[in-house]
Amino acid sequence: MSNDEKLMRDGAERAIRYRGSLAGRQVAPTPEAIAAVAGFDEALSEEGRSDAETLAMLDEIGSPASVAMAGPRFFGFVIGGSMPVTVAANWLATAWDQNSVMSAITPALATLENVSRRWLCELFGLPQDCAASFVTGATIANFTALAAARHRVLADAGWDVEKDGLIGAPELTVIIGEEAHPTLTKSLGLLGLGRDRAVRVPVDAQGRMIADALPAIDGPTIVCTQAGNINTGGFDPVGDICSAARPAGAWVHVDGAFGLWAAAVPSMRHHVEGIGAADSWATDAHKWLNVPYDSGVAITRDSSALKAAMAITADYLITDTEHRNPSDYTPELSRRARGVEVWAALRSLGKRGVEDLVERCCAHAQRFADGLGAAGYEVLNDVVLNQVLVSFGNDATTLRVIEAIQRDGTCWCGGTVWQGRRAMRISVCNWSTTAADVDISLSAMLACAERVKRA
Ligand SMILES: Cc1ncc(COP(=O)(O)O)c(C=O)c1O
Repeated sequence: MSNDEKLMRDGAERAIRYRGSLAGRQVAPTPEAIAAVAGFDEALSEEGRSDAETLAMLDEIGSPASVAMAGPRFFGFVIGGSMPVTVAANWLATAWDQNSVMSAITPALATLENVSRRWLCELFGLPQDCAASFVTGATIANFTALAAARHRVLADAGWDVEKDGLIGAPELTVIIGEEAHPTLTKSLGLLGLGRDRAVRVPVDAQGRMIADALPAIDGPTIVCTQAGNINTGGFDPVGDICSAARPAGAWVHVDGAFGLWAAAVPSMRHHVEGIGAADSWATDAHKWLNVPYDSGVAITRDSSALKAAMAITADYLITDTEHRNPSDYTPELSRRARGVEVWAALRSLGKRGVEDLVERCCAHAQRFADGLGAAGYEVLNDVVLNQVLVSFGNDATTLRVIEAIQRDGTCWCGGTVWQGRRAMRISVCNWSTTAADVDISLSAMLACAERVKRA
């Protein structure tokens, strides 16, 4: 066996061992493991070091210092795991080392992305001829879709924003909910539309936009809605907002980083009723589809608007093809074969598999809420999806319990402030979480809360 082959086998074996350890290990790394990362901080060598030793160091120091985010008991933020088929597909695609820029040089990839585009539209109940952009995550998916929106509403007003920029452009109104995710407002800033310039619509107790409070729409307008509030999991009434805004010529965008997946589940579709009437949708694949980081998708009904915002030409590029060029739809030119894992996940799961995955996570969230409620702790949100907000008493107590749970290591949850009150957030998004993981975690949470109360 050549040294190169030995090295790659060693890497695969180390990775497989790491994955095998996830269910049994502490979620948070030990203080000793965190202290050991200082070992990475070497001087840059003159001559380089051995490949095998480099890989060993990465595993021996890096693996124990990692938080077990890919494991079944990480409930912080909204973080999916990665299904084995998606990790293995990622390895193969990494070995291909394709630049997924043009279909002429990456025909397999371009086809896999296009098939994934079609499957996602079918799953979410969107028109089959929507365009899709395979990007790093919902942040850039929001940015990409909103670039298409900016193009269309200004083009309709006679302005070419790609050519002439925003200086001197017709006034463009952006409407967002009070609970829009900060990456949505960041995307608006990146697009020159201002993080703080948008008109904000009030929300209800679950963080959902109040459709009746939508301002009158006049002139070029983009309305940004949300499917899945980062804290409560609540859904804006996207259908009602589309009914009010689209006849007035507005572009309606949906930030559905995780909530859009409810559209793929018959028992949950009522949450996203009317969502297919919107103009663009952003979602993550590295959350609920459980593919490795980083992976998100922007989808637009108006394919020409997305292409106008993203495509470039140059004499050296092969852009005059009848096939879909991935980079015609993405902010990047060169990029990794990001669509491969999305394709592998969807092919492996099928429609039933996606439904089961989403329903299972939501059932686990409900199990958490029931267990915490039965123990006398207050669940602050309506648990409609995979998010649970719980208070363990006053703000200081809740903070102490969160710290204790993180230190205990059985599971990991983060904190937030929801409508003025400190809360612990539980987000269930991992394919491998079982009811037993929920029960073990619940026991640990309740034991930590008891200890804090007694202290
Ligand atoms: C509603 C919403 N939008 C956007 C994002 C940003 O997603 P990402 O971090 O994958 O870019 C998140 C992340 O949780 C989210 O919940």
